Amino acid sequence: MKAVTWQGKRDVRVEDMPDPKIQEPTDAVIRITSTGLCGSDLHLYEVLTAFMTPGDILGHEAIGTVEEVGAGVPDLAVGDRVVVPFQIACGDCWMCLTGLPTQCETTQVTSEGMGAALFGYTRLYGAVPGAQAEYLRVPQAQYGPIKVPQGPPDDRFVYLSDVLPTAWQAVAYADVPQGGSVAVLGLGPIGDMACRVAQVRGAGRVFGVDLVGERLRRARSRGVETYDLRSYDNEKELIAAIRDETEGRGPDAVIDAVGTEAHGSAAARLAQQASALLPRKIGGPFAERFSVDRLAALHTAIELVRRGGTLSLVGVYGGMADPLPMLTMFDKQIQIRMGQANVRRWSDEILPYLTDEDPLGVDDFATHRLPLSEAPHAYEMFQRKREGAVKVLMTP
Ligand SMILES: NC(=O)c1ccc[n+]([C@@H]2O[C@H](COP(=O)([O-])OP(=O)(O)OC[C@H]3O[C@@H](n4cnc5c(N)ncnc54)[C@H](O)[C@@H]3O)[C@@H](O)[C@H]2O)c1
Ligand SMILES: [Zn+2]
Ligand SMILES: [Zn+2]
Repeated sequence: MKAVTWQGKRDVRVEDMPDPKIQEPTDAVIRITSTGLCGSDLHLYEVLTAFMTPGDILGHEAIGTVEEVGAGVPDLAVGDRVVVPFQIACGDCWMCLTGLPTQCETTQVTSEGMGAALFGYTRLYGAVPGAQAEYLRVPQAQYGPIKVPQGPPDDRFVYLSDVLPTAWQAVAYADVPQGGSVAVLGLGPIGDMACRVAQVRGAGRVFGVDLVGERLRRARSRGVETYDLRSYDNEKELIAAIRDETEGRGPDAVIDAVGTEAHGSAAARLAQQASALLPRKIGGPFAERFSVDRLAALHTAIELVRRGGTLSLVGVYGGMADPLPMLTMFDKQIQIRMGQANVRRWSDEILPYLTDEDPLGVDDFATHRLPLSEAPHAYEMFQRKREGAVKVLMTP
C-alpha cells in the first residue's frame, strides 16, 4: 500500500509499505477513504523529530470502510463505514470506564511513562503505524471505531476522529457559563472548531485570536470577534483590547489552541528560526517583532483570563521544566484543565450535530482536498500556512 512516511525533519514521503494484517483477535483493518492533516502532525514534522524513526507512517485522522475484522470484534462487519479515533483504547479498563480513554490502562505506553497509544505519533505513544495510508490496522477495534451512516460525504464525519472531540473537550473543560465569554487563542482547525462548538453550546461572546488573515476572516464570517495579533506591539495591548470588551475583567474562559509552536513577542534568540517558518508575506517586518516562543500563547492565556476563570489547554505542550508565573496563577485563582481529547467520551454527544443542517459547518470545513500522493506538498503548505490552507484532507 501507499503510505505517508516520516523520513527526517521537514521530510515526508509517500512510500510503498506492506499492507497491514490482522494480528490480534481484537484488530480490524480499514480501507481509508479520507485522512486529515493535523497541527499535531506539524510537531512531528519539525519539533519532535527526536522521537521519530525514518519510515514511521504518519497520521491519526481517518474514515473508511472495514475490510477485515478479527474474531474478537463482534460489532463490526466488513463494509461498515467507520471513523477511527486518534487514540487506541480498550473501553473496558478503569480509565476507559471513567471516561478517560486517553489514559487507557491496557494501551498505556508504560515503557515511556506515557498515556494511551496513539496512531502515527512517535515512539512516546507506541510507534503505531498511522492513518495517512491506504489501509490502517486498528487495534482494540472492539471499542474504538465509530460507526457512521453510509451516504453523506466523508467530510461530514471524518472530524470525529480528532477535530470535533478535541474542540468539544476544549469547550467542556473551559466551563464557559451560559451566556458567558470565552477567548480562543489560535484559529487553526482546532481553535476554529472550538469557537463553533462554544457558540452552539451557549457561549455569549467568543473572541478569537490569530495572526493569519484567512483564519481570522473565516472565524469572523461565523460571528467570532477576531483579534489580529499583528496589529498589536505586544500581548499587553491585545489583552487590554479584549478586557475592554469584558468590563475590564477578561473573559470567563480562555482556550489555548496554539500549543508549543506559538508565535510570541519574547525569546528573540529564536527569531531566525521563526522567520523561516512564517508564511512569506508576513516573514519580513513582522518577524522583527515576533519570534517563536514555546510558551507565548500560554502566558497570554494566563494574563487574559479573568480572575477565578478557567484555562483550557488543548494545544499540545511537551516541556518538562517550563517556567510558569505561579504568583499570577495562584493570585488570580485560575483553574487549568488540559490533555488529549477523550474521543469516545464525547462522540455520541457530537453525532446529533452532524446533520444536513450542519450547525458546525463541517461539510465545507476543509480548505483543501489532495490525493495522498501530494502529502509532501500538503505538509509544507499547511505548516507555512500558504494558499489559505486551514484544514487539509487527503484521499488515498
Ligand atoms: N489535545 C488534543 O487532543 C489535540 C488534538 C488535536 C490537536 N491538538 C493540538 O492543538 C493545537 C492546534 O492544532 P491545529 O490543527 O489547529 O494547528 P495549527 O498549527 O493550524 O493552529 C495553530 C494556530 O495558532 C496560531 N498562533 C500561533 N501563535 C499564536 C499566538 N501567540 N496567539 C494566537 N494564535 C497563534 C497559528 O497562526 C495557527 O493558526 C496543536 O498544538 C495541536 O497539536 C491537540
Ligand atoms: Zn489531529
Ligand atoms: Zn482502557
